[in-house]
Amino acid sequence: MDRMTLDQKLGQMIMAERASTTPDNVREFGFGAVLSGGGSAPGANLPADWVAMNDAYWMASVDDRDGRLPIPLLYAIDAIHGNANVLGATVFPHNIGLGATHDPDLIERLARMCAREVLATGLDWTFAPTLAVVGNVHWGRTYESFSSDPRLVASYADRYVRGMQGDLGRDSVIACAKHWVGDGGTTNGEDQGNTVLPESELDRVHITPYFPALEAGVLTVMASFNSWNAEKCHGHYHLLTEVLKQRMGFDGIIVSDWDGIDQLSDDYNEALRLSVNAGIDMIMVSVDWKRCLDGLRQLVDDGLVSMERIDDAVRRVLSVKARYGLFERVRPSERPWANHDSFGSAAHRALAREAVRKSLVLLKHDGSVLPVSKAARVLVAGKNADNRGHQCGGFTVAWQGVSGAEQIVGGTSIWEGIRAIAPNAVLSLDGSDANAAQHDVAIVVIGETPYAEGMGDIRRGGRVASGSGFGGPTSQLTPYGKTIELAELHPEDVAIIEAIGAKGIPVVTVMLSGRPLVVNREMEASCAFVAAWLPGSEGQGVADVLFGDYDFHGTLSFAWPKQARMSPKAAGMLFPRGFGMRMA
Ligand code: BGC
Repeated sequence: MDRMTLDQKLGQMIMAERASTTPDNVREFGFGAVLSGGGSAPGANLPADWVAMNDAYWMASVDDRDGRLPIPLLYAIDAIHGNANVLGATVFPHNIGLGATHDPDLIERLARMCAREVLATGLDWTFAPTLAVVGNVHWGRTYESFSSDPRLVASYADRYVRGMQGDLGRDSVIACAKHWVGDGGTTNGEDQGNTVLPESELDRVHITPYFPALEAGVLTVMASFNSWNAEKCHGHYHLLTEVLKQRMGFDGIIVSDWDGIDQLSDDYNEALRLSVNAGIDMIMVSVDWKRCLDGLRQLVDDGLVSMERIDDAVRRVLSVKARYGLFERVRPSERPWANHDSFGSAAHRALAREAVRKSLVLLKHDGSVLPVSKAARVLVAGKNADNRGHQCGGFTVAWQGVSGAEQIVGGTSIWEGIRAIAPNAVLSLDGSDANAAQHDVAIVVIGETPYAEGMGDIRRGGRVASGSGFGGPTSQLTPYGKTIELAELHPEDVAIIEAIGAKGIPVVTVMLSGRPLVVNREMEASCAFVAAWLPGSEGQGVADVLFGDYDFHGTLSFAWPKQARMSPKAAGMLFPRGFGMRMA
């Protein structure tokens, strides 16, 4: 650090988005890190494109011509359910499904697999795990949460970090516990909203999972968009510095969320001052990193941010890089896992498929329809039956996710999984071919379509704040819907179940969703009902269980609602946390 100029130090405090950052910018300003926001991808979005891109940034960061001090940069991505931004990645279930497996060992194995797929693309850092403890399923990010039970989230936190970071050797990836803190506790489940709680409750519910993550050595933590008792976390000295750094002893990097500091004040420099003085060490900037650099310089020159604070932040950045062995690593394209053929491999997909099997929760069974015989004449129907994009949900290839099969390279849709083991199965997406003389049973796959962040909120009205959507303001700034009652949210679902049932064909319903929903009518019309969450690319795992090769294993990690009320406390619950039936 003694050899660094002030400008070099300030550069290390910046994490800039790739679309607004060239390798020349990295060479000139020495950024500490570069990131990809959701859907921000180089070239044809194949591993080789990522490796080549990061190679160029890396070479720029270590260019020591003209007396520059070479400091390798870190590259970060949202590999939150596999390295799912990248085409051909193995996409495993979103966290809500992993919560239902109640299997910390599986979590560690999945995290290790995910680390390999991140390393295959030449990157270093993932913005995961999300340790949100969600209290209200109206939140659009409910699927990013393992559970509403802080103990379950805590039991995964250390295993996730260990799987990702390992022993910080060459097959490790830097983990990031997020979002600090109280993200899952906002009033009405509003994204980026306000969490109103006494500190003792914040501790008990939302801070609890961070202890095991820190014990496992998590190197980075991301600040949260939400406020705590009306004060934004991004500017919260008590939460960032006194609690996380001082009381809990966190000595890694606190990175801000996507332009999250901008919300602290209309005056950008004031927002910078508040956030850096509160304890933010690295600032995630979507576009205008120049404004950020100039602002930091101005604040230091004016004495509004002390050199001591800058040095503390830079020491944290460099010490994470040192602990991660970044100074000893070679350029991305020469690293042992770069472009490795384990990316999207059969072995990785087998593990994701195991996770799918274990995540399914059987909520209703009449005692006879399951398991479905492999010889049965099965009608497969419903809008989500043959849609790998819908299975994967948000944060897959694009920030808001994708529809169809084209962009989910590899894997199987639920229909493709059924077809592979039940030769007499036929597909009729709208169910119009249903005929009791021809079909013994129907498997109807219903539920939500992809969303991410605030666009997944269920709200009575209003617009939602944006997040890391790549490509500027998106047109989808409206919430997902107004109610968690599926019959209102997606009336086509109950309609197709009832229509097929009315023809005298027993219906097995499989629901894809990022949260529990009120499904009384759908359940009533079904002989069996399965919550399959957002299973990811390996739809085969659903067929594995429906046709009896494995029994159901998952149990709810969230209580299941009976009525659509804004406040979960006011609504009666249909099933408690821990509920889940077996076939046998
Ligand atoms: C999200 C974070 C994410 C970041 C980078 C933000 O909008 O809140 O969870 O890691 O974008 O993509």
